[in-house]
Parts: sequence; structure tokens; C-alpha cells
Amino acid sequence: MPTAKSTTNSTTQPTTVPVIVFEDVSFSYHSQVQILHNLSFSVNQGDAMVFLGENGSGKSTLFLNLLHLVSGHSGSIVVENLEVSRKTEKKVRQRVGIIFQNSNDQLFLPTVKEEIAFGPYNLGFSGEDLENRIIHAAKSIGVDDILDKKIFHLSQGEKKRVAIAAVYAMDPEIYLFDEPFANLDPKTKTDLAQILLELHQQGKTILLISHDLDRLPEFFTRAIVLHAGAKTFDGTLRDLYSHSEILTQANLQVPSVVELYNLVKNKLMERNPHLIEKIGGEIPANPKSIPIPITINEFSKILDRTLDKILEQILEKTN
Ligand SMILES: Nc1ncnc2c1ncn2[C@@H]1O[C@H](COP(=O)(O)OP(=O)(O)OP(=O)(O)O)[C@@H](O)[C@H]1O
Ligand SMILES: [Mg+2]
Repeated sequence: MPTAKSTTNSTTQPTTVPVIVFEDVSFSYHSQVQILHNLSFSVNQGDAMVFLGENGSGKSTLFLNLLHLVSGHSGSIVVENLEVSRKTEKKVRQRVGIIFQNSNDQLFLPTVKEEIAFGPYNLGFSGEDLENRIIHAAKSIGVDDILDKKIFHLSQGEKKRVAIAAVYAMDPEIYLFDEPFANLDPKTKTDLAQILLELHQQGKTILLISHDLDRLPEFFTRAIVLHAGAKTFDGTLRDLYSHSEILTQANLQVPSVVELYNLVKNKLMERNPHLIEKIGGEIPANPKSIPIPITINEFSKILDRTLDKILEQILEKTN
């Protein structure tokens, strides 16, 4: 059973235990067109990883293969030591929960309560235990006030929450989120980011597909980029932001904070290319010694230190 909503801010560190291993995986829906091309990567327990890539690059297809919701891949997919196949798919799906891109593909029962009950019921829960699971999941994800509502009366944001609650009620170790932020209002996006943080703090492994790098919670540090079904990048987001050709190929834009940092850097450089060097500031950052900021928090700290140094110089000169 998942723990109640966490109130700490501590971030769980990923481990080095691989829970998902793809080795040379290829896949096609129809034999003529290959969709995934020789994919190899592994994900460790507790990792928070984002999958990026242009529309049609194969991200959702990769998730479907992981759960054996489509069949016929070549190569090997191993989830928690289980080789993914028709024989193991049931066990794999108990360990891995997916929140689909479109909630209408996920929800199929008449009411919210039935939807949340479905997973744990199939895991063997009944009576009071089942009721407790439903209530706990509904409260944790914030759908306890709509338990009796009909699914087809729900808004898109409510459906997304119910889909998450239905997966949460099964307490999988691994969560796959396929573009969960799409079509949500800003407040609901913030709530969703909080749910992701809580899952991360519980030590869950989270794989997320997204196009919106501005919306990525800070604990997502690793990215895999797909282009036309092949892996073009596997590393940290910080590294990715300095590979503009990969971002362009994947129809991605750097987050606003990186754009803003570059803007400030360029403005300072325009004024005096040696100014920052002279005062020993951190803008422009030397990517080898000082990493570029990729969060508002990091940017704010660098800006503070640089402005302090500029002020120091001004004060020295005027005294
Ligand atoms: N059931 C299917 N049968 C045949 N082709 C499919 C099927 N589902 C997806 N495809 C094709 O596979 C390719 C990859 O699709 P996929 O949905 O995995 O892309 P994606 O990266 O998730 O894109 P998006 O960002 O638009 O969600 C696309 O060319 C798509 O048309
Ligand atoms: Mg998709």
C-alpha cells in the first residue's frame, strides 16, 4: 500500500539496481514499416526519466512494448528480471502502471469508484481491504469527492486524476506517464507535478513522455530522445540542452530558464566581452567548470552572485 501523502521535501536518490533493460529492441506494427530501431537502454530503480521526441517518433509505442500491450518486438525487454512476453505480461503489468496519453483509452467502467476498484480487485483485494485501497488512492490523488460520479460526466483534468488514482490503487513499482500534462490547466498541472514528486519520494521509478520541458519537475534529470524510432540521446537534461541539433531534430525547445540565461549572458557579453571574466562572475558560465542553470532556482543563485560582484566593483570604483 502506498504511504499517505508525503510532507517532506527530501528527494529520493535513484539506485543502481536496473529495473528495466531494453537490449536491441526493434518493433513494427506492420512488417513493412519499422517503428522502433535497435533501442538499448536501462532504467534504475527510483529513476525519474523523460522520453522526448517529435510526434510519431515512437515514444508511446515504446511504452506499449514495455507492457506487452503490442506484441512482436525483436531483441529483449526485461522488467524486474522478467523477460517481457505473453507469458509474463500479467506479472509485468502488476509491476508497471501506465497512464495513457488519452484518458478515454484508459477508463472503461461506469463510475470513478468502480474504475479505481478494478485494479486492486483483480489483484485479489476484497471487502474492507478493497474499500481501504480505494479510499486511500482516491484521497492521495484528490478524487475522493467525485467517487460516485459517472466517468463520462468528468472533465479532462478529472479523468486524468482518476486514471492516475486507478493505477495508484494497484501500487506498482514503476509508473509510465504518457504526456500527462497535455490539456490540463496550470493549477491541475501543478497538482500533477506534486503527485509525481510524491511518487518519486516514495522511491517509485517514473518514466514520463513529454514535449514541455518547462513543465518538467526538477527531479527529472535524465532524458532519452527518440528520432524516427531510434535513440539519439541518452544522458542528463543539462547535457541535452547544449545539443541544439538533437533538440531541433526532436522539435523541442530549451526551457525558458535556459533561454533567459542565454539572453542575459549575451546582453552582458555585448556590453563588454571581458566584463564577467574581469569580475570573476559566473555569467557566461564556462560549461566545463560551471554548468548552465536549468532550473529557476539555479539561475536565480547565479544571477545573485553575478549581480553582487558587479555591485562590488561599482562600489569599489565610487569609494
Ligand atoms: N496501431 C498502429 N498501427 C500502425 N501504426 C501505428 C499504430 N500506432 C502508432 N503507429 C505509428 O507508429 C509511429 C509511432 O507512433 P507513436 O504513437 O509511438 O509516436 P509518439 O512518439 O508517441 O508520437 P506523439 O508525440 O504524437 O504522441 C507513428 O508513425 C504512428 O503512425
Ligand atoms: Mg504518443
